[in-house]
Amino acid sequence: MPGNSDLNIALVGCGTVGSGVVRIVQTSSDLLTQRTGRSIRLRRIVVRDPAKKRDVDLSGIPVSDDIQTVIADPDIQVVIHVVGGINPARADVTSLLEAGKDVITANKALLYAHGAELFGLAHKLGRTICFEAAVAGGIPIISAVTTALTANRIVSIEAILNGTSNFILSRMLDRRQTYEDVLTEAQARGYAEADPAMDVDGTDAAQKLSILTQLAYGTAVPLDAIVRQGIQHIELLDLLVAAELGYRVKLLATSRLSKGRLEIAVQPTLVKADRPAALTNGADNIVSIEGDAVGLMRFSGAGAGQMPTASAVMADVIDYATGRAAITFQSLQRLQSRESIPLQPQEELSRRYYLRFTVADRPHVLADIADILGRNEISISSVRQDETADVDDLSGVARLVIMTHRTTEGRLRSADAAIAKLQSLRGNRIRMPIAD
Ligand code: NAP
Ligand code: HSE
Repeated sequence: MPGNSDLNIALVGCGTVGSGVVRIVQTSSDLLTQRTGRSIRLRRIVVRDPAKKRDVDLSGIPVSDDIQTVIADPDIQVVIHVVGGINPARADVTSLLEAGKDVITANKALLYAHGAELFGLAHKLGRTICFEAAVAGGIPIISAVTTALTANRIVSIEAILNGTSNFILSRMLDRRQTYEDVLTEAQARGYAEADPAMDVDGTDAAQKLSILTQLAYGTAVPLDAIVRQGIQHIELLDLLVAAELGYRVKLLATSRLSKGRLEIAVQPTLVKADRPAALTNGADNIVSIEGDAVGLMRFSGAGAGQMPTASAVMADVIDYATGRAAITFQSLQRLQSRESIPLQPQEELSRRYYLRFTVADRPHVLADIADILGRNEISISSVRQDETADVDDLSGVARLVIMTHRTTEGRLRSADAAIAKLQSLRGNRIRMPIAD
């Protein structure tokens, strides 16, 4: 409960984000007191392995592997829960709320899957959940959509919401490094989830987009309603060809109102090289959000990493300590739309596309693919195939890049299913929309 006394907090999870929280509590204690009027005291820590060596000084703070030490401590008012995944996070947060604790979390996987249930419980019990760090790391986008922009009807969100995949795409192009090498570096820097598959297959960005969409438009969107593709099959060649054509490849998360329906997708996308999203590099994120009154707003900065994420967590602590967080959390229910907004069927999404095929370098292959596209009413705007090293060698493979005119996701899927059956096809097929 906010007030004027000391604020006793507990920390569950002391990895990348948790260690950053400890650092800020220890190095900025005067500033925190000045900003809240209270002493912020880190009373307990819970981790999986209390014996593990940490790169922060935890002396004087009891460290346990048992969350009951926190649940049972009547002096602890708010718990920073920075453990990834659903289990035991879901049970932990439930028990903490039931024990009368408020919770600050950075766990978007948990909020996407069980946010409604946990928020419902918290509202019923008069408790507060804060989650600024769950979307876009250090960027204060939750604060923006739940407070500063609430006088607007949001009409579009276009964002880069996963730091790991943005780091991978930027580094591959800038340093000509392989996907695998850059992913290892992203993990070493603390950007990636414990299971990095969630970062590169678009799941993490889709979970964040779903949370943001729910807050911005007041309507829930399940993951399977989102057109979702990852970056895991993108090769340096795709990035280089896109660059030659004047684009950068970005894992773009979009939700946009169009004729009363919500278009929503997370896909690697060709973005014109001079657009702000294309210029967002490394682990940075960007959220461009358009409101009917405010117009287009852009928020950008570090979307992952220890201190930016800890900054967002500690902003929640300050809001909690001053009493602002409880007011914002109570008002979240009023952000719900009275009627849910219909979703645009995935098949009807209409864009231009970049297609890349690896094919046997022999006669009629290009004609077969062009024929399938044509039969699906997909018009080709350009074709590119570089000569292989040995032009007389017909046993090799060729890389074929096709740019299409505007068409629909449905037509593309139908053509792709037919192309997938061609005997001449080798390796992965790449399909990326173009954000003109
Ligand atoms: P992390 O480095 O893997 O740290 C996880 C921490 O949780 C570790 O301290 C681990 O203990 C502890 N833990 C794991 N299972 C536990 C259990 N059963 N009981 C108690 N403690 C347990 O993860 P992270 O990168 O800090 O991420 C934490 C959360 O923040 C995740 O939800 C993530 O999605 C989110 N997030 C991360 C970032 C980022 O840039 N890293 C940004 C935004 C949001 P041990 O240390 O003993 O193993
Ligand atoms: N793994 C996440 C990312 C952390 O790379 O964006 C921030 O949520």
